Amino acid sequence: ESTLGAAAAQSDRYFGVAIASGRLNDSVYTSIANREFTSVTAENEMKIDATQPQRGQFNFTAGDRVYNWAVQNGKQVRGHTLAWHSQQPGWMQNLNGGELRQAMTDHITGVMTHYRGKIVEWDVVNEAFADGGSGARRDSNLQRSGNDWIEVAFRAARAADPAAKLCYNDYNVENWNSAKTQAMYAMVRDFKQRGVPIDCVGFQAHFNEGNPYNSNFRTTLQSFAALGVDVSVTELDIQGASPTTFANVTNDCLAVARCVGITVWGVRDSDSWRSHHTPLLFNNDGSKKPAYDAVLNALNGG
Ligand code: G3I
Repeated sequence: ESTLGAAAAQSDRYFGVAIASGRLNDSVYTSIANREFTSVTAENEMKIDATQPQRGQFNFTAGDRVYNWAVQNGKQVRGHTLAWHSQQPGWMQNLNGGELRQAMTDHITGVMTHYRGKIVEWDVVNEAFADGGSGARRDSNLQRSGNDWIEVAFRAARAADPAAKLCYNDYNVENWNSAKTQAMYAMVRDFKQRGVPIDCVGFQAHFNEGNPYNSNFRTTLQSFAALGVDVSVTELDIQGASPTTFANVTNDCLAVARCVGITVWGVRDSDSWRSHHTPLLFNNDGSKKPAYDAVLNALNGG
């Protein structure tokens, strides 16, 4: 197959991309995105600050712009993200304890109700574990509201849209030997043992000098899948865009039956949150980089 999405579909997987609403009027951007990808994640437009800027006042204008582009072009949509320490609007940043807990579940319910039945999988909780080798939870207003905030979020999400797969999503959790990975593994195992509703785990896969790709990523994906969840690569970009590393990540997903797809975090290097790392599959002029060919070759069984 000659496109990433069609090649991934050969093994019933999607190949997705993060879309920024501000670039949907750029025809080079949209022609690549429409041609190559079969899944869309809104890069920012479905985050907390975008969707509930004032308490009790939801705003889906930007989220719907990305959603509508995706479905009008035949793509599935991943929802990103409902409970997160970052990109909270000011009114939520100032809340704590029970009031924050209520605001969190109200937010989850409000956003998921708007998109009920339309989102294939939601990043319900994003980045709840700390960096730095301890395996501890990240400190945040959400964590301080009680250690059970994550399962409360997942239970609220299941009630809001039973059709959606509910994912936990994080970064620097790709290396099996990392304490952060092991802490996340222990949480997912505990959730599955206790019947907390969780269906998938997202590995952001932002690889760089601080978090280099390690071939044990395949072990990580296999180990989480064995817990009884889907796994997916949710925000792939690689500093320097090594074709070999992109191929390795692709093959790691292909090797794990429950790895349902890969999403790259942007179209062209110039679209990247870290464009100076030239981490994506397309040059600024929209031409394909060697990493693109390596990924396509891997998806085609090469
Ligand atoms: O929209 C405003 C604009 O009105 C304002 O003029 C401008 C300057 O202040 O800021 C714009 O908002 C920016 C937004 O991106 C849209 O471009 C925010 O400042 C900026 O912080 C935000 O960065 C995003 C970042 O998440 C923080 O939410 C990046 O685009 C986005 O790629 C990045 O994505 C995250 C994932 O959601 C979670 N995993 C890590 C990943 C990379 O950080």
